[in-house]
Amino acid sequence: MSRLNGKVAIITGGARGMGASHVRLFIKEGAKVMIADILEQEGQALANELGENAKFIKLDVTKGANWEEVVAETEKAFGPVNVLVNNAGISMNKSIEETSEEDYRRILDINQVSVFLGMKSVIPSMKKGNGGSIVNISSINGLVGGAIGYTDTKFAVRGMTKAAALGLAHYGIRVNSVHPGVIETPMIVQEDSKDAIKEFAKYIPSGRVAKPEEVSNLVLFLSSDESSYSTGSEFVVDGGLTAQ
Ligand SMILES: NC(=O)c1ccc[n+]([C@@H]2O[C@H](COP(=O)([O-])OP(=O)(O)OC[C@H]3O[C@@H](n4cnc5c(N)ncnc54)[C@H](O)[C@@H]3O)[C@@H](O)[C@H]2O)c1
Repeated sequence: MSRLNGKVAIITGGARGMGASHVRLFIKEGAKVMIADILEQEGQALANELGENAKFIKLDVTKGANWEEVVAETEKAFGPVNVLVNNAGISMNKSIEETSEEDYRRILDINQVSVFLGMKSVIPSMKKGNGGSIVNISSINGLVGGAIGYTDTKFAVRGMTKAAALGLAHYGIRVNSVHPGVIETPMIVQEDSKDAIKEFAKYIPSGRVAKPEEVSNLVLFLSSDESSYSTGSEFVVDGGLTAQ
């Protein structure tokens, strides 16, 4: 199948976890993908493994100048950008009392300001290709409360998605948010968290946490022309967790 044939995509946080899963599926479906991440070794290794349609570039998503360079390099390598997946992010599990101003501003920069910078940076390139699709990875914590800082930024991503979708629709640029539940990635799976995850899975209607690939299928749909009439919308992939 080639549901992304001829599409040029930038996937942030593409070196590991859900981002790497999106990269693999996009390549399988015919896209050319720029893997943009701070993790150089993992990102370069993935690009080498996937062949000439995948390239790695170092990107710190919090830096506007770095974003411009990434868009320029992507155009140089593959042509105008058609798809941006704003996937890079961090979690923070501190109480409000434990969270310092520095902690708070850091998560804001990585999870929220980065999404603004990414969307703004790809607009000129997407206009050259007469449109595009931006997929912003939020969380179920963009719909219901969770940890301080993380929840705040993921609600913001949901709102920014709608504002950007309204502002960019006339260019044929669609913007949607994805809200994953609990997904097995290095962000949540650590040696000391395995038992807690198993226990938590009992509260998920589907009875289990998800594999990254189950989110990639949704991201693929939103990135492809199959979702041509969807913009400014929220897409939940959570095994029924927020339906309760
Ligand atoms: N895992 C989950 O259960 C879950 C649930 C809902 C939403 N999410 C969201 O999905 C996205 C991917 O998370 P994941 O679970 O794959 O996590 P992960 O930690 O496995 O991957 C995150 C990636 O983002 C990159 N990254 C972090 N800071 C960066 C920066 N400043 N510049 C560039 N890259 C940076 C990391 O290097 C890493 O490759 C995140 O936005 C996360 O908030 C995750």
